[in-house]
Amino acid sequence: MLNWIEKRTGFVSMAKDFLTEDVPGGASYWYVFGSATLFAMIVQIVTGIFLTFFYAPSAATAWESTRAIYLNPYTHFLLAVHYWGASAMIALVFLHLLQVLIFGAYKSPRELQWVVGVLLLLVTLVLGLTGYLLPWDMDAYFASQVSLNITGLAPVLGPMLQHIAQGGGSMGTATINRFFGLHVWLMPAVLVLLVGAHLAIFRHNGAAGPVVEDRRTLRTGPFWPDQLFMDGAFSFIVFVIICFLAFAFPPYLDAKADPTKFFVPYPAWYFLSLFGLLALVPPEIHLGPLTISLELIATIIVPTIFLLIVLLLPWLDRSRTRSFAARARLLWAATIVVVVIIGLTIYGQATTMIKQAAAPSSPPESVVLSAEAATMPAAGSPGTVTAANSGMTSTQASATNGNGVKVFASNCSSCHGAQGQGLPGTFPPLANNPVVTGDPNKVIGIVVSGLHGSISVNGQTYNGQMPAWKGTLSNKDISDVITYIRGSLGNNHASAVTEAQVAGYKP
Ligand code: HEC
Repeated sequence: MLNWIEKRTGFVSMAKDFLTEDVPGGASYWYVFGSATLFAMIVQIVTGIFLTFFYAPSAATAWESTRAIYLNPYTHFLLAVHYWGASAMIALVFLHLLQVLIFGAYKSPRELQWVVGVLLLLVTLVLGLTGYLLPWDMDAYFASQVSLNITGLAPVLGPMLQHIAQGGGSMGTATINRFFGLHVWLMPAVLVLLVGAHLAIFRHNGAAGPVVEDRRTLRTGPFWPDQLFMDGAFSFIVFVIICFLAFAFPPYLDAKADPTKFFVPYPAWYFLSLFGLLALVPPEIHLGPLTISLELIATIIVPTIFLLIVLLLPWLDRSRTRSFAARARLLWAATIVVVVIIGLTIYGQATTMIKQAAAPSSPPESVVLSAEAATMPAAGSPGTVTAANSGMTSTQASATNGNGVKVFASNCSSCHGAQGQGLPGTFPPLANNPVVTGDPNKVIGIVVSGLHGSISVNGQTYNGQMPAWKGTLSNKDISDVITYIRGSLGNNHASAVTEAQVAGYKP
């Protein structure tokens, strides 16, 4: 049987050649990162293909279909594996690159293998960037806006590139379609081709092996079974970690993208160092008549120069041997670069967190995921029993008052907080606030006509402007949101308010 296949295809001898390949210096756990990256890529391709079965790329459906993916435990897990698989793949590419750098394995004759490897890192980052937009939630929208604007900063081609990637002057369905096309088709195709080239060059030159002065002294070990076992064992551990993280820490879905709201985006961790660099410098400095855009330097020029140095490393590192001693200066420089990148990452994380703490909080995920319940036909359609008229307790009411939750999340939480906790001295709390749970007619009045002037809530004074919602919200939305804030925030357990009460409200 094997013979039959071998005669017609040559596959068997190819596999034998591959497995009996010599590993100079014998098998080692140092060499597992490349194959683990390949493994992570396969995980991404498989989970990614299945995700396209559920995802619908357009401004009207991207978030909605992502939300549906979150609501089903199996697809949620699939998405979580894809999410953590992306992080794993990027981490592994970096580790692989570092290992090759430390061992000097990019030296002649492997220069092109290095160049292709750096391109692979870039493609992987583009995949991360384009995938980040697809859920189309607040974070996806605002983080992608930052990267699109940075693209637009680039001299000459920037504005045009931004226009193309964005699919027009502003972000919308065209942007999702562009990113989707890049993410599921163009970039994966480029990735697979480059991986093919990377492996073909690897097969041509053989493994670089450990750092020694005289390669002839090296004993060699076969690829099979030792190295294959180590590669397999490490990939398996990577897979277990991905599944554990996917299970224990699935990704988080924010409210649907809304360009009219204020939001502080948090980038994926592998872009935090760039965010940190951007946050570190003022946008521009003036030197006499000269205005220098530091923003441009931080976002475009520094990363481009850095990339060129990395790409050209095999030609910049002139030492003849791969020995650590001969390459000490380079290894020190690399260490400093890694430390700086880690420092910028921490700084980027810290500034993002500080900015986020000062901004209005996002609603918790449970609210986001239940929000759309309101558009399901059952809630509030004629003839169905609504919380307001069924005499249910407030806790039961909150379970069915999907519309109230939704109206609150999209109109009130930006000031009063996701849980109605308020902001001391600026926005009064609605949770545990006796006015909110007191006379329903008064609360209707406040929400319908707005409120200003000094008020006191639980000993704190507030003197702000609460907008009037008549005209912006329908009577039904107003009665639902009041029912929600009176019955479900904090320890509030007051009676529901009906649409008729709102309609009949007289100041
Ligand atoms: C732009 C910010 C903002 C938004 C959005 C907002 N509020 Fe207010 N709200 C305020 C401020 C400020 C006050 C206090 C006004 C004052 O000091 O007189 C207030 C007061 C209130 C009060 C009275 C509290 C008391 O103790 O007297 C209620 C009830 C209330 N808001 C409900 C809502 C509801 C329901 C929504 C959503 C439909 C909403 N608010 C949206 C800013 C806001």
